[in-house]
Amino acid sequence: MKHTGGASDQRAAVEVTKDKNGIDQVVLRNPHGASARVSLHGGQVLSWRTERGEELLFTSSKAIFKPPAAVRGGIPICFPQFGNRGTLEQHGFARNKIWVIDENPPPLNRNDSNGKAYIDLLLKPSEEDLKIWPHSFEFRLRVSLAADGNLTMISRIRNINGKQFSFSFAYHTYFSISDISEVRIEGLETLDYLDNLCHKERFTEQGDALTFESEVDRFYLSSSDVIAVFDHEKKRTFVIQKEGLPDVVVWNPWEKKSKAMVDIGDEEYKHMLCVDGAAIEKPITLRPGEEWTGRVELSVVLSS
Ligand code: BG6
Repeated sequence: MKHTGGASDQRAAVEVTKDKNGIDQVVLRNPHGASARVSLHGGQVLSWRTERGEELLFTSSKAIFKPPAAVRGGIPICFPQFGNRGTLEQHGFARNKIWVIDENPPPLNRNDSNGKAYIDLLLKPSEEDLKIWPHSFEFRLRVSLAADGNLTMISRIRNINGKQFSFSFAYHTYFSISDISEVRIEGLETLDYLDNLCHKERFTEQGDALTFESEVDRFYLSSSDVIAVFDHEKKRTFVIQKEGLPDVVVWNPWEKKSKAMVDIGDEEYKHMLCVDGAAIEKPITLRPGEEWTGRVELSVVLSS
């Protein structure tokens, strides 16, 4: 077992292996047997498991594991844009690129390694990226798995020279759920949202928790920093705690769109729900030398 990155507790482990395309993947394990797997393709978390081995993230059975396409599932990172404006590809290029392990990351502002297994990844623009998006940046990602099984992702994006630039961002998190008709989201009540299914028209959510009976493709604006996804049948609740990420994307393609997508099974929409910590409505602007941090911590609470 090769240890790279951090395993600040003796019994937490970090292992680097290769996927079938020869791309490095990093497996994080905590002392109780929980694990997470991160691919250097996209810096994408592809698996997050409890200590009992239950998978918490959805990955499509038809996912295509071949760069440059992002894998349908896990947690693709949308940067430098969320959506498909202008000449940049949909949801930006970060999720399609091969990242590297950052052997020497600058320290984080607060201690984010205690008792955790973690890995630091780095993305810098290639010549090709600079032609499409002419901004020099360093994108540092820390993925960590704590002793309690919580998964944390910390993104630090720095403008390393040149002019100021702006970007939008999302952790496009595919939660694994029992059945879309059995889940509800709390924490978005009364918020305004922009609806992608209605030309980004602005609506206000009513007072009830959000439930699902058809396609949903929205982002909620300026939410509180804690959102919960309740899954009655699985008797578990995902709690999303976020910082620096004011917006929340909620997406489920439902039946018709799933049938039109090559990398998701016709019925698989029932078992996934994307709920993303995001910064979309007000893009982040960085002047030369400035850095932005966006943090999300995912936890799961089991009920009996
Ligand atoms: C959503 C977008 O968040 O992501 C949808 O709002 C899009 O419009 C979906 O279909 C998935 O995007 P992609 O590029 O991964 O297929």
